[in-house]
Amino acid sequence: MRYWSTRGLAAPVGFQEATLQGLASDGGLFVPEIVPQLDLAALKNLDYAQVAWRVMAPFCDIPEADLRALCEDAYGPKYGGAPAPLRADPWGHVLELFHGPTYSFKDVALQFLGRTLNYILTQRDERCNLLVATSGDTGSAALQSVVGCPRLTAVVMFPKGRVSPLQQRQMTTLLEPNTHCLEIDGTFDDCQAILKELNRDAEFKQRMRLGAVNSVNFARLLAQSVYYVWIYLQTGEPLQVVVPTGNFGNFLSAWLAYRMGVPTRRLALATNENDIVHRYFRDRVYERGQVHETLAPAMDIQVASNLERFFSMAGGGDQVAGWMAQFEKTGRVETPPLEGPEMVSGRASRGEILQAIRDYHEQVGVVLCPHTAVAWHVARRLPQLGPEVVVATAHPGKFPEAVAEALGRPYPGHPALEALRDRPQRVVSLPAEAKAVKLWLEGLSN
Ligand SMILES: Cc1ncc(COP(=O)(O)O)c(C=O)c1O
Repeated sequence: MRYWSTRGLAAPVGFQEATLQGLASDGGLFVPEIVPQLDLAALKNLDYAQVAWRVMAPFCDIPEADLRALCEDAYGPKYGGAPAPLRADPWGHVLELFHGPTYSFKDVALQFLGRTLNYILTQRDERCNLLVATSGDTGSAALQSVVGCPRLTAVVMFPKGRVSPLQQRQMTTLLEPNTHCLEIDGTFDDCQAILKELNRDAEFKQRMRLGAVNSVNFARLLAQSVYYVWIYLQTGEPLQVVVPTGNFGNFLSAWLAYRMGVPTRRLALATNENDIVHRYFRDRVYERGQVHETLAPAMDIQVASNLERFFSMAGGGDQVAGWMAQFEKTGRVETPPLEGPEMVSGRASRGEILQAIRDYHEQVGVVLCPHTAVAWHVARRLPQLGPEVVVATAHPGKFPEAVAEALGRPYPGHPALEALRDRPQRVVSLPAEAKAVKLWLEGLSN
């Protein structure tokens, strides 16, 4: 299987190279040349790890026995809990993706991706430094993804004093030899600007072998598509899901499962007030707006990187490079309707998120995280077509302030996260300057 860049200028590469590079050298995203069709009957009654390697095998140039071992290790006892249990509720099911080491759906992909990168690097006798900018949530999942992966080092930059104390502790109490936290004296945008500047420095990027594990990496989407196949295998019903999304990665993974042949009734996406993808699905106009701070902060973005991948895979073909150039220049692009099953969208305001947490708790006795509450709010307003699955992307204990505000009483949070309070922390403070981070990284490799 070869992977092409959405911008059409970079040479096609295999899965392993696409996973190592993350972003293509022409600035585009890697997409597979074809989407192989699943043999769904052969997946019945298998456990999650077995489904995962069988779904991913046709996309990967990794020998089957090795891929199987990677999935069994990623989704076995070390994962913590079940990767994707379905909990029944009065409207269908909630897919709980927060039973991994950092209590976020990101673990589902990153526990696989860390091991896979380590495997690829071992074959090549190379090492790689994963440099990550985080506004809170991705950092801990990226750090946890390299535990036990000696070929990888993860370095997370976060803005000093601007991530929640709980999120900070989740990162800084991990004291592995290959995990490092840099607190940057600036904003999240400063952290991202530093990341971009260091990645633009081709000589430095090559010398330090910088890698990317955000959802621009196709392997992450592939690993996430598995849980949508899993939903179909568990319910036996055509997919009808509501997906909280920001960067469009979580939703595109559902669309990928549809393209692999999973019977699909409806894919719904749910955003907070940062509704760029909701507006795109309503009007076919991709137009940048202002970033709003919300109670579902992991979805506070206005450029949905994976939409470019959707444009390319859903029929945009050669036009995508032009569309993206126009978007980068003017902040706006209109597209014709693209391929897919019924796709709908909705958004939730701050008040609606709080109300959804309250209502779900009253009616079911279970607390949702604010991101999941966005999806549940949207689900309740869609035309009802029968049972549906709401995708739950984080444990509510990661967002105790928002939950407490919704319920009107203190919310204790997750006991394992509370226990981090007394643990020693390790963090390096640096100014918001690319050269300071560069110097620090160079010291790391000596
Ligand atoms: C808790 C949570 N829910 C949902 C999302 C949305 O995922 P994506 O932006 O990949 O679609 C994120 C992304 O960071 C998240 O952290």
